[in-house]
Amino acid sequence: MTLLVLTVPDSRLRQVAAPVRGVDKGVVHLMKEMLETMYAAPGIGLSAPQVGILKRVIVVDIAGSTGDSAHNPLCMANPAILWASGEYSSCNEGCLSLPGQYARVNRPSSILVRYLDQQNKTRDCTADGLLATVIQHEMDHLDGVLFVDHLSKLRRDIITRRLQKARRSRQPAST
Ligand code: NI
Repeated sequence: MTLLVLTVPDSRLRQVAAPVRGVDKGVVHLMKEMLETMYAAPGIGLSAPQVGILKRVIVVDIAGSTGDSAHNPLCMANPAILWASGEYSSCNEGCLSLPGQYARVNRPSSILVRYLDQQNKTRDCTADGLLATVIQHEMDHLDGVLFVDHLSKLRRDIITRRLQKARRSRQPAST
């Protein structure tokens, strides 16, 4: 079953999500539904707060972005960054919660992340390039942070105005 993806300005996107006590059946089920939702969108990353669940769970799959049709999902509960490179790189980012909006964001180019996998095992993963970007973008969601928060106020205001305009044009005038 695919889940409804919240879009700005839904206040749930601005809250801090709580750690899970462990990856139990319920969390595994949530990860599965988040993956289905992400593939259907389509997207390359999704966080639980974006589907209205305030838990520290993210799913990522960058396989589709390279034209590779095989799925290669990464599901993480309670992800924590243990190390980040001093070197930064910028990627053109988008977000299912800010439909149609893209901007270049600077982030550490390599990271070491610790998380609980689908078997409730603690794992460490080093990531660089697009994978590092997507993991950091999704982890931001767990703290109520959106990619536009990394931009200058001017650029953020431009995107906010574009989204308001898009919302107005989708809604009937007389409500
Ligand atoms: Ni996002």
